[in-house]
Amino acid sequence: MGDPFDDLNPPPRLMMGPGPINADPRVERAMAMPLLGQFDPAFTEYMNEVMALYRGVFQTENRWTLLVDGTARAGIEACLVSMIEPGDVVLVPIFGRFGHLMCEISRRCGADVRSIETDWGTVFPLERIEAAIKQHQPKVVAMVHGDTSTTMAQPLDGVGAICRAHDALLYCDATATLSGMDLPVDAWQIDAVSAGLQKCLAGPPGSAPVTVNARVEAKVLRRKHIEQGIAPPDAEPGDGPIIRSNYLDLPMLMDYWSEKRLNHHTEATSMLYAARECARIALKEGLPARFARHAVASRAMTAGLRAMGLALFGDQANKMANVTGVVIPEVVEGEAVRSGLLEDFGIEIGTSFGPLAGKIWRIGTMGYNCRKQNVLLCLGALEATLRRNGFTAPAGAGVDAAMAVYDEDGG
Ligand SMILES: Cc1ncc(COP(=O)(O)O)c(C=O)c1O
Repeated sequence: MGDPFDDLNPPPRLMMGPGPINADPRVERAMAMPLLGQFDPAFTEYMNEVMALYRGVFQTENRWTLLVDGTARAGIEACLVSMIEPGDVVLVPIFGRFGHLMCEISRRCGADVRSIETDWGTVFPLERIEAAIKQHQPKVVAMVHGDTSTTMAQPLDGVGAICRAHDALLYCDATATLSGMDLPVDAWQIDAVSAGLQKCLAGPPGSAPVTVNARVEAKVLRRKHIEQGIAPPDAEPGDGPIIRSNYLDLPMLMDYWSEKRLNHHTEATSMLYAARECARIALKEGLPARFARHAVASRAMTAGLRAMGLALFGDQANKMANVTGVVIPEVVEGEAVRSGLLEDFGIEIGTSFGPLAGKIWRIGTMGYNCRKQNVLLCLGALEATLRRNGFTAPAGAGVDAAMAVYDEDGG
């Protein structure tokens, strides 16, 4: 163990895994800004600005676009615990670890969970989702957009319309894709979406942007029970079942984020600064430019890996733009390569979970790290590390192939 009285001095790392990644230095700077009281008019104005900025990031007009304090999972739980009434049928199409997580959270909310599964490395055709909705008639459909465990992105255009036709609410976990892949929330009729900062948004983990529309608002307001110590004298409890979490109760959070400013928890000041800066940077770059930056990095990384003689994991037509799965060659020990990259180059890449543990590496190119220099550094370092571990790729082929993609793209 180190000396706990030493200065905190983390080793320099380039985090090229499935997230978290290196935060944009502007976000770290924003977090160092002076604290304000949670009802200081300057601070409540920042809260309003955050709502407006995230409407832009989510491509929505939803009034209720706010932050849930906690990592991305807190955003998922806030949506699900507020939207799911005990006994509700909830349909979860599972294509990786995070689909299983939604089943587990939904069960804890008292849902009657129905799921469909597809092999890890594949996604669902729209018809299969539609057939399951017709069969199960769910109140809520919960889907992941990009499941980092498999590196696959589920096409979501059309799912919202099917849900509306069957009177189901659609919730989407966009933790891993928001601002890296297109997710027009209103155009795709997604009723509730949550995310995190530590992936394409280039921030630290610890804040979960959430947006919900009027359909969700109507359902959760029926369940509004304001805690006794803060309830105004005229507060009428809703006639629906109480939401089984206080901290993650969306109606109470709405009151806190509205002009009522009805106190709930203390907003996490520095995380709000971070979230504001993440959204400001994303919108200043422009979403189309940001999506294109992630797409070209994905093409360059995959071209480089292939040129090194490595096999990519999963259905490449539906891979996430910001994470690439690589099959670990049989001749090498996957963890030895990851350790070599970290120790010799300060580069972190990920392995995976469940059936893919030890079988694939996951390489992220997202947010602040999604840049030509990092793609090239990572490929060069991987080539050298693989060679030291018994897998020899054609010298320089990975970097050259990635360079060629960037050259074609105009550098
Ligand atoms: C798709 C997806 N959902 C949810 C999460 C959970 O996020 P957090 O660890 O920030 O709670 C992750 C994290 O990797 C993720 O990739």
